[in-house]
Amino acid sequence: MKKIGKRLLLVCLAIALTACAEEERVAQPSAPEAEGAAVIQYITEVDPYQGWALWPDKGKLYEGKHPHGAFLTTYVSSGALPAITGKAGVIPDRAFVVKENYTPEKKLAAVTVMYKLKGYNPSGGDWYWLKYGADGTIEKQGMVEGCIGCHTAVKDNDWLFTGPVK
Ligand code: HEC
Repeated sequence: MKKIGKRLLLVCLAIALTACAEEERVAQPSAPEAEGAAVIQYITEVDPYQGWALWPDKGKLYEGKHPHGAFLTTYVSSGALPAITGKAGVIPDRAFVVKENYTPEKKLAAVTVMYKLKGYNPSGGDWYWLKYGADGTIEKQGMVEGCIGCHTAVKDNDWLFTGPVK
């Protein structure tokens, strides 16, 4: 009886440890799901994008084209940066490109996000698209047809306009 108790204890311990390890593995990247509020929370609170690198060779408030804004500032997450500078061809899973869109008066109008999620939308480069206003209101999110329809022009560059990634 005593022996069984010990064994049971060991089994329980093993299960607990496995559960902990699993938690660790899942929690480690702590990247959000394809859901607007979670993505915004992640890029503004968990890993604030304004602390990331700017898109290589682009400064802050460079001139943009329609439809995004007169001036733009584009940040890349730590996962995206080496892929861009190293011309890897594709941005890796769970990496972000976040662009601030400003009016001609240099007032923040909206933030547009491309978030790479492996398996999310293979025919669209596995990008999750998000646009939210300066006040945080979500305007568009998901597999947004408008975003995809235009960015498809640069699908050979992993759907990115700002600079070559290969
Ligand atoms: C009519 C074409 C068009 C549409 C529609 C469009 N984009 Fe873009 N996007 C561009 C262009 C062009 C750039 C390059 C920046 C610039 O010069 O304005 C760009 C740049 C970006 C970037 C910076 C990374 C990159 O691709 O260079 C993000 C992020 C982005 N767009 C997100 C979005 C989202 C999200 C939507 C939909 C809500 C969207 N875009 C809709 C044309 C478009």
